[in-house]
Amino acid sequence: MTSATSQGLMPESDVDLFSPAALMDPYPHYAVLRSLGPAVHLTRYGLYGLFRYEHVRPALVDWERFSSAEGVAMNPRTNELMEGSILGMDPPLHKSVRKVFDEALRPKYVRQVADDIERLAGELVDDLVARGTFDGVRDFARKLPVDIVLDLIGFPRDEEREKILDWALGAFNFMGPASDFQSSSLPDVQELMRYLTTKATPAKLLPDSFGQIVWAAVERGEITENEALMTMSAYACAGVDTTIAGISSTLWLLAQHPDQWAEVRQDPAAVSGAFMEGLRMEAPVQTFARVTTCDVDLDGVTIPAGATVVLSYGSANRDERRYPEPDRFQVRRNPSDSAAFGFGVHNCPGRALATLEANALFGALAERVEKIEPAGEPARSPNSITRGLESLPVRVA
Ligand code: HEM
Repeated sequence: MTSATSQGLMPESDVDLFSPAALMDPYPHYAVLRSLGPAVHLTRYGLYGLFRYEHVRPALVDWERFSSAEGVAMNPRTNELMEGSILGMDPPLHKSVRKVFDEALRPKYVRQVADDIERLAGELVDDLVARGTFDGVRDFARKLPVDIVLDLIGFPRDEEREKILDWALGAFNFMGPASDFQSSSLPDVQELMRYLTTKATPAKLLPDSFGQIVWAAVERGEITENEALMTMSAYACAGVDTTIAGISSTLWLLAQHPDQWAEVRQDPAAVSGAFMEGLRMEAPVQTFARVTTCDVDLDGVTIPAGATVVLSYGSANRDERRYPEPDRFQVRRNPSDSAAFGFGVHNCPGRALATLEANALFGALAERVEKIEPAGEPARSPNSITRGLESLPVRVA
């Protein structure tokens, strides 16, 4: 096959994957895009996309050809705003900033808060069992990320703090391809930046917090002030809404599958499997982008140098080539290789913390609750990057 022919074979699609309607239910679109070929030219936005697990995973690892340094958002304005963010760096620069995250989030440190997390999860679930019916997002999934993680990061305990969650969702939405829908989130981005520049400062951040570790690295000359500010932004965006989304989606799946909840109750080892499977089914981060540094040949099709390539964690996790019956929720599947936390140098440093929170919550539920069932329709809002629920009425017995 000549390279000209290969170029000619690049499949195309004019689907608007980032329209609010497609974002509400992307899975049928992903299935079509996976079937088209190893890569797809998304003509509506001039992007390319990888949707199969076998291509998404190696691309995430191959930072030399799929670079983050031009930004991981899908429009130039956001990439400019995110300059200095760890998400938008390649090694060797990435390594020095990543060291700061790894220091704060290493499992040894995270284990120190494990007792608090376990205790709070137990108290929370006792209270919810007494109530019977509750909102799985507001009353269950948000509690630990808000009470524990915002403290760990060190944001001051004032009335503005919880607004970070909405601003962060807006900041994620602002990373999508340029559109009216994407740009409608600008006020959230501005509020988040105002908050970070005025409140995420060494004088205001809580003592002994991740935030203080970040500013100490500035003092030692290891990172710049702008990198510190963007690091605080990465904590605010990546650390809280993602965990809430993963926990509430898993609760929703368990409420719809009583047989799977029975499995979890029978075997405590299945608690962590349930969360992993929830993250596989409903990846909280659905997509980020990379930019190709050279022509990249993928199984006979060529992505040109300089292309913005959407890497779909959400689609890779539903790839039938990797996961048999991918749309079926099975707590015993154990998909520890799913793309939900990413791969390669940017793989999620918050994995241990998020997993600890989820396992504490579902473990406490498994000990106390025989039945979880839907008590109404859940609500969700579309977002260019993340996928989670806004509310989730459930009943437990
Ligand atoms: C279920 C919860 C979570 C999910 C699904 C998730 C998902 C992800 C994914 C997919 C990436 C890779 C980005 C890329 O490929 O460019 C990532 C990176 C990151 N995550 Fe998480 N995350 C979660 C929780 C957390 C928590 C709790 C924190 C911190 C408190 C955190 C902090 C970060 C940071 C700082 C990065 C950037 C790392 C880098 O660029 O080197 N995440 N996360």
